[in-house]
Amino acid sequence: MSASRRLPRNEDRQLDPRLPGHQRASPFVGDAIAGDTIAAMSANLLEDPDYDLFCQQKLRDLYPFFARLREQDPVHWCAPLNMWLVTRYDDVFEGLRDTTRLSASREAMYTDPLRPENRPRARPVIEHLNRWLLNVDPPRHTRLRKLVNLAFTPRFVQRLAPRIEQMVHELLDATCRHERCDFIETFCLPLPARVICTMLGIPPEREEQYRRCVEGMLPFSSAGGPGLNDTIDQARACLEELIDFFDRLIAERRQAPHDDLISAMAAAEEDGDLLTRDELFAMCVFLFLAGHETTMGLLASGTLALLENPTQFAMLKANLDEMLETAVEEFVRYESSVTRGARCALVDFNLRGKQIRKGQTLTHLIGAANRDPSQFPDPDRLDITRHPNKHLSFGQGIHFCIGAPLARMEAHIAFRAIATRLPNLQLATDQVTYKPAMGIRSLEALPVRVS
Ligand code: HEM
Repeated sequence: MSASRRLPRNEDRQLDPRLPGHQRASPFVGDAIAGDTIAAMSANLLEDPDYDLFCQQKLRDLYPFFARLREQDPVHWCAPLNMWLVTRYDDVFEGLRDTTRLSASREAMYTDPLRPENRPRARPVIEHLNRWLLNVDPPRHTRLRKLVNLAFTPRFVQRLAPRIEQMVHELLDATCRHERCDFIETFCLPLPARVICTMLGIPPEREEQYRRCVEGMLPFSSAGGPGLNDTIDQARACLEELIDFFDRLIAERRQAPHDDLISAMAAAEEDGDLLTRDELFAMCVFLFLAGHETTMGLLASGTLALLENPTQFAMLKANLDEMLETAVEEFVRYESSVTRGARCALVDFNLRGKQIRKGQTLTHLIGAANRDPSQFPDPDRLDITRHPNKHLSFGQGIHFCIGAPLARMEAHIAFRAIATRLPNLQLATDQVTYKPAMGIRSLEALPVRVS
């Protein structure tokens, strides 16, 4: 079941405070609020019909709900999801950076919601997820990140630019052959997949298998709460197929290196230290998941934002060189495709008067922080000239997105091409639907009229 959202034109939404998505600056931001007031507000939240929908990952428009959370109970214990929800910019910023009180390990987040009879079946999947760079703490994280950085260099990313440019134009050529199409299918979905496969060095005839299996892990890796129980079998089957897939490919690349990331990561060495087979395998799986759905989300939601805000689209078309960079940063802020940074408490501590217990999960809601009026004036407005724009969409601290330069470069090339080659692009729906996964915000489809 997906979450769909009817589309009032965004520019109308800003004018009419009764429409969903409109938000007034909170009278509570930064104010001290008495304890009994907080309790009353928290009770209000529980009665909020959006609350259940959010927990079931079916909430259409996240932002009015996020605003209520941020104002009424910024560090909120969410019993159905068994986790704290943290929503204010400052708290999310600090939480993502904190490696003293918080761990990036998701062991508890994945294990706790599982019914006891399901735990042994899920074990191999959780062991694999525990090796993903994002889920590892220092000192292991420091070592892994150093080795991956040796391969995933700015020069390596820059060298991909001409190939990305070519892919963008090929996909737009195909898009332009339709009068109407689903822009996700023709452009936003295939582009990042091709880029990552090319970058890693997945042979073209094996791309489809790789993509299918990695995506099959997503319902488990990005779900939360009791829904995890229903996703184990699929994740296990995909994991087993992937192990087989990469055992062969990594062996081939070790024997005969190519100019690709798998070969570079296999060769990356610091003081005699190399990535192990399991670490390299985990990296190959995680890079696709980390970079595909996220970049697809950015391309799709950025396009949607432009189509919902025709004045901003016109401004971008007329001032492409001057505004492209700030426009892309604004797309990244406005609809953050990674919605949360999850951490586990290593110790008991107090956060805004709430007692956090060791072992509990804190979910830092990046999308809520990115719309915090204390940091972003008029946060629900798309403003392609916004500056400064210190969004948290690529994270903060030691886990800051390693793929951010690639995602930005891809988005710059893509939106330049969209603005010049598809100047008359229009939405062909009044309702968009988001996939239900909790950790990633990505549209199911984006029906457009091309000419
Ligand atoms: C619009 C696109 C993208 C967004 C919004 C995004 C967002 C993020 C965020 C928020 C984090 C940190 C999460 C946390 O601290 O819990 C992260 C980490 C990461 N991202 Fe991205 N990402 C994007 C694209 C990519 C791409 C293209 C790649 C690689 C191909 C990539 C690879 C990674 C990796 C490996 C990490 C883990 C880094 C670490 O733990 O040290 N991402 N990303």
